Amino acid sequence: SAGSTFDFSANLFPLSTTAAGYTALGAPTAAHFEPTSTLNGGSLEKLKSLTFLNGVSLVVGLIIGSGIFSSPSQVNINAGSPGASLIIWLVAGLLAWTGAASYAELGGAIPLNGGAQVYLAKIFGEWSGFLFTWSAVCVLKPGSAAIIAIILGEYCVRAVIGPDAAEISIWLNKGVALGGLILVTLLNCVSTKLGTRSADVFMFLKFIALLGITIAGIVVAATGWSWKGPASGDWEDKGWFEGTNTNISNLAVALYAGLWAFDGWDNVNYVTGEFINPARDLPRVIHTSLPLVILAYILANIAYFLVLPLSTIASSNTVAVAFGSQVLGPIGSLILALAVGGSCFGALNATTFTSGRLVYAAGKEGYLPEIFGKIGVRNRSAVRLNSRASRSSNRFVEMISDDAGFFMTPINAMVLNGALTAVYILIGEFSTLVTFYGVAGYTFYFFTVLGLIVLRVKEPDLERPYKTWITTPIIFCCVSLFLVSRAVIAEPFQTLLVLAFILAGVPLYWWRIGRHGERGEKSGWKFWKQWSKS
Ligand code: ARG
Repeated sequence: SAGSTFDFSANLFPLSTTAAGYTALGAPTAAHFEPTSTLNGGSLEKLKSLTFLNGVSLVVGLIIGSGIFSSPSQVNINAGSPGASLIIWLVAGLLAWTGAASYAELGGAIPLNGGAQVYLAKIFGEWSGFLFTWSAVCVLKPGSAAIIAIILGEYCVRAVIGPDAAEISIWLNKGVALGGLILVTLLNCVSTKLGTRSADVFMFLKFIALLGITIAGIVVAATGWSWKGPASGDWEDKGWFEGTNTNISNLAVALYAGLWAFDGWDNVNYVTGEFINPARDLPRVIHTSLPLVILAYILANIAYFLVLPLSTIASSNTVAVAFGSQVLGPIGSLILALAVGGSCFGALNATTFTSGRLVYAAGKEGYLPEIFGKIGVRNRSAVRLNSRASRSSNRFVEMISDDAGFFMTPINAMVLNGALTAVYILIGEFSTLVTFYGVAGYTFYFFTVLGLIVLRVKEPDLERPYKTWITTPIIFCCVSLFLVSRAVIAEPFQTLLVLAFILAGVPLYWWRIGRHGERGEKSGWKFWKQWSKS
């Protein structure tokens, strides 16, 4: 559950008092699938504690991050008119919803931790799960953390310098982004608890910010009053659809920006194994959270349009500050800058937490050099914990308990993730990174949901406690295929770069796994098959 302020760990840790257990986010291995030690009465069993409400806060808390406060400019520039922008937001939301519904079916049929990695490995073979992990470690996780850090930087700088300052050097923004990243990485290296506790602090900020924006927008529209004098968006004299862009590639880029704001819908799948009743709750979580978020986003966007002229919305990544400044002056912009900055900080923190675990799991599994699968500091409690973990015969259910003390975290993994993120912050900027991330992400979403269709054909009798309409995955596959292929035309260089990253995983797979021969009996999904038959 990467992403935002309400991480699954925050849910789990208080519940398992002796051990802040977490399971591999990755690696479909024998351990994952082994019948007795994990799923039925084994160590994972203790961790089966997530409920419907946990799930909703996990998804909603994760999706609402930086995007709704920063993507509107990208959506607007590329959509051309307020009306078209709102349609893009709706389409992005619905697409996320169909994706999430498809993932809910997969999660119900394969109720294990690991998300796309396990599904891909089961359906297409271990190599595909490996490629996903590889891409997640070097593109998806650090790429998304960089985007959030950049927005964090921009909002912090705005909070100090003010909304109306002219040119602000991007290096100032990037410097602050790097500072935020270093702080968060340190925090997560020092202590698991510190990392997750501080996340909770920011939990409600974004709800309040979004609600506040909506209410303020309605009030301004109704009364016509705002701090900076009568306010109205361009729609008043131009109408909602004037200037709509009809260039398909631009619309695709706009869609990516919208999809960024909705991203994170898959994250509940990373912890499916921890749900008390995944078959019932997974679809309920999805069908509650996504409509809520879609509604909140559409309302916030309408509020932006009611108050701000299009040129203002289009010109900055900090539309929320411009909004606050228009409605309540300096106080308004400061409040919103702090709220959004806090929300980004929380999101960055939680995404760092899980990225560390992902890299760590990949190191443990042998996907990455062993050094990344090590816990930071070895002391007496570390030894005790390690022996406990090995006794559980599931090397993925590591115990990093509260009493393990400071620096008992996957430090090497954190450092790798932090370093990669820093590179993206330095060489990238918001709009290019969003497309870059979108192309990589939607490539894997596409194949995973395609896998759902393949699995229906290959194993029609597999028990599926939740089945979506078959149209759902088909729609998702068509739109995401369109998106990825359009990106090739709109941003050929970036797309090739993404492809190169993913393909670089192929020789790596052969080197780390393939040349040692098939894992045969130990191959993850075979175990899973046995288990599902018994
Ligand atoms: N939707 C989030 C935002 O607006 C980004 C989620 C990033 N995705 C992730 N898996 N961490 O900031």
